[in-house]
Amino acid sequence: MRPPSRGGRGGGGGFRGRSDGGRGGRGRGGGGRGGDFSAGKGRGGGRGGVRGGGRGRGGGRGGRGGMKGGSKVIIEPHRHEGIFIAKGKEDALVTKNLVPGESVYNEKRISVQNEDGTKVEYRIWNPFRSKLAAAVLGGLDNIHIKPGAKILYLGAASGTSVSHVSDIVGPTGVVYAVEFSHRSGRDLVNMAKKRTNVVPIIEDARHPHKYRMLVGMVDVIFSDVAQPDQARILALNASHFLKTGGHFVISIKANCIDSVAKPEAVFAGEINKMKQDNLKPHEQVTLEPFERDHACVVGGYRVLKKQKTAE
Ligand SMILES: C[S@@+](CC[C@H](N)C(=O)[O-])C[C@H]1O[C@@H](n2cnc3c(N)ncnc32)[C@H](O)[C@@H]1O
Repeated sequence: MRPPSRGGRGGGGGFRGRSDGGRGGRGRGGGGRGGDFSAGKGRGGGRGGVRGGGRGRGGGRGGRGGMKGGSKVIIEPHRHEGIFIAKGKEDALVTKNLVPGESVYNEKRISVQNEDGTKVEYRIWNPFRSKLAAAVLGGLDNIHIKPGAKILYLGAASGTSVSHVSDIVGPTGVVYAVEFSHRSGRDLVNMAKKRTNVVPIIEDARHPHKYRMLVGMVDVIFSDVAQPDQARILALNASHFLKTGGHFVISIKANCIDSVAKPEAVFAGEINKMKQDNLKPHEQVTLEPFERDHACVVGGYRVLKKQKTAE
């Protein structure tokens, strides 16, 4: 077990908490709600590689922000496999577009020419619109979501983040995306028509038996249902679908669980609930400045002894 870091929102819980947001994006004042991701200078750089900057959620919707494609943009692999950094005037987190020529939520695309003349297209991944992107910039050590992985995604909404997970796992991976709202589910289903590695499931994640015929065993469960009983929902789905030695990634919005308690107390409480259900938290990061009073926790499931020593 890695030593815990102290204090702040992300801290506590007996495992690694990055209350300072890691060495990636940080700090509530770290730059509004932006669609642009300014280059990681100083604190914002380092692990996350890209920093949340400036200008309002709207950026990610395609209205503003992002960066222009073309020869000035250089794509570098992020340390998490399947994720990249587009280095230009402003750096941005990007994923390789599984469906070139198509945006999912009007996000900007960048086309880059390889040395052999072939083109590869990337999509800008906005941490103000995706908790997973915020967690990557927060400096998570391991997200376990990588090319070829099978993912169960709980709380898929209209599929904004799901589409980036679909890019990351690529054609050999699968994303089972569960969403109970029919309204959001419509967009999710439409997105999945073009992304053949996404299986949309319009069901309540509290009832995994209803979709057991559709979902195989998975490597990772990503959970973002923002519900008071989300730890139980995660554990229930893990007991059905998560491989022994698999991993979970959960976004916790403090005031969905308790609007009065201090966020750090809420996070610690959720971690205790997970521990009682064979879910072993390994690390925690704050999602600030992208999301207020949110944390992301990553851990292992029914961790094998051998694996435990390695981690
Ligand atoms: C915070 S939003 C998810 C945002 C999404 N992960 C993204 O980054 O684009 C939470 C979503 O979980 C869905 N949700 C909440 N409880 C659920 C449940 N029990 N089963 C399935 N979906 C649920 C909500 O309808 C909502 O769309």
